[in-house]
Amino acid sequence: MTQDELFKVLVAHCKEYGFIFPSSEIYDGLAAVYDYGQMGVELKNNIKQYWWNAMTRLHENIVGIDSCIFMHPRIWEASGHVSAFNDPLIDNKDSKKRYRADVLIEDYLGKIEEKVNKEVEKGRKKFGEGFDEAQFRATNPNVLREQAKWDEVHNRYVAAEKASDFAEYRQIIIDCGIVCPISGTCNWTDVRQFNLMFSTSMGSTSEGANTIYLRPETAQGIFVNYLNVQKTGRMKIPFGIAQIGKAFRNEIVARQFIFRMREFEQMEMQFFIKPGTELDWFAKWKENRMKWHVNIGMGAENYRFHDHEKLAHYANAATDIEFNFPFGFKELEGIHSRTNFDLGNHQKFSGKKIEYFDPEEGAAYTPYVVETSIGVDRMVLAVLSHSLHEEQLENGETRVVMSIPAPLAPVKAAVLPLVKKDGLPELAQEVMDLLKYDFNCQYEEKDSIGKRYRRQDAIGTPFCITVDHDSLNDRCVTVRDRDTMEQQRVPIAELRALIDAKVNLNNLLRNL
Ligand code: GAP
Repeated sequence: MTQDELFKVLVAHCKEYGFIFPSSEIYDGLAAVYDYGQMGVELKNNIKQYWWNAMTRLHENIVGIDSCIFMHPRIWEASGHVSAFNDPLIDNKDSKKRYRADVLIEDYLGKIEEKVNKEVEKGRKKFGEGFDEAQFRATNPNVLREQAKWDEVHNRYVAAEKASDFAEYRQIIIDCGIVCPISGTCNWTDVRQFNLMFSTSMGSTSEGANTIYLRPETAQGIFVNYLNVQKTGRMKIPFGIAQIGKAFRNEIVARQFIFRMREFEQMEMQFFIKPGTELDWFAKWKENRMKWHVNIGMGAENYRFHDHEKLAHYANAATDIEFNFPFGFKELEGIHSRTNFDLGNHQKFSGKKIEYFDPEEGAAYTPYVVETSIGVDRMVLAVLSHSLHEEQLENGETRVVMSIPAPLAPVKAAVLPLVKKDGLPELAQEVMDLLKYDFNCQYEEKDSIGKRYRRQDAIGTPFCITVDHDSLNDRCVTVRDRDTMEQQRVPIAELRALIDAKVNLNNLLRNL
């Protein structure tokens, strides 16, 4: 299966099994807006809980808040979003389709990278154990040619990005022969800037309505509550404020399922520190956040850092944690050293003093900030795309399984009476009652046991518990493991401990 096909299968699977639905589907949907179904919401909640507990419970100096989506419009002037939260857009004159010019160039570079990697893999197969990758990359003519092409385009792109030279973006697109996937032509308009904030009005027109914005990041809700939290929580620097909440961006290109949405959720943490210590904290948070990701168990090789070459005007260091999505390595989380830009500007725009008196220094200052910011939906996509597999079984059949890391799985155990009679449903219900307070469980009695196993595999349930006639006498049940498909006979009294050992989120947290 190609990456594209794999992605289509994933989108269809998410709909079929109640993970994610197109929003307003009976009205033909709304572009780049998705709803979470009965399985998706459980997965999403588990991810949020893993993040929230990792931030607020494992760090005594990080507390959480929940600020509003609507905020005073001046906040977005202070933060720079009104003047500078723009994407460079370009239209194809033939298909009338709109694209992000930077994304067109980055995808082009990504394809060259893919070609180089394929060439390296061919070499690895050909030369076997003695393969020297560094030497191969330095000498193979195909690799050298592609690498030279990549270097040239990349250097031009970085220079154009630094200079905000949009005419050069267009020229790169034309020189590289990047065509519109719909029309297949290179008939491009100029590149223009497009502000991503949604606006609406507050108050009735008779009162004189105000234009307000739907927040494009949750971070500003943290900045404007810095003084409240610091004072009421008697927080001492260094300390952090964490928040999970909705954000809205009028994305130009939104064709990658829940990767780029117009309404999405962020998990952000702003860490307030003494000026001059920011690069140390930036390095610490990079390490901390990578550990959080790798700890989930989806393979360290599927993550990498991508340091920003062009820094936003307020930042003095920035990196992305990229994940290996079906369409290549792409940003999953951003870590930014934001200096005192935001607090400094809110001080200026609001006229309120935003400072911290540092007893150790005997002086007051406006704190610097290192932020970690991850999209919940991107995390859901990372988990789903990594987990969905089609497996060939020994008996020649295939099974579709979602090997979602067990602590994040939407349903932890399915309780299945072998037949719908002879007192088995009653005993199965007893098992449900025993487990339901600790775990999200599903009771299913319809269809053959094989079909029920397949349905649970498809939603990623780590355990299937079958209640059979012997269970009535020995009070033991058959427990089937999703990943190994092995079955073991377990006393009902031991079920809780067996399931807990594998699915309890605290076990993940303890490894951090
Ligand atoms: N406060 C900093 C900030 O918002 P960002 O890099 O623009 O930084 C942070 O966004 C994270 O939010 C991204 O790494 C991504 O996971 C998520 N994100 C951003 N735009 C998104 C969108 N349109 N759809 C889904 N997730 C998005």
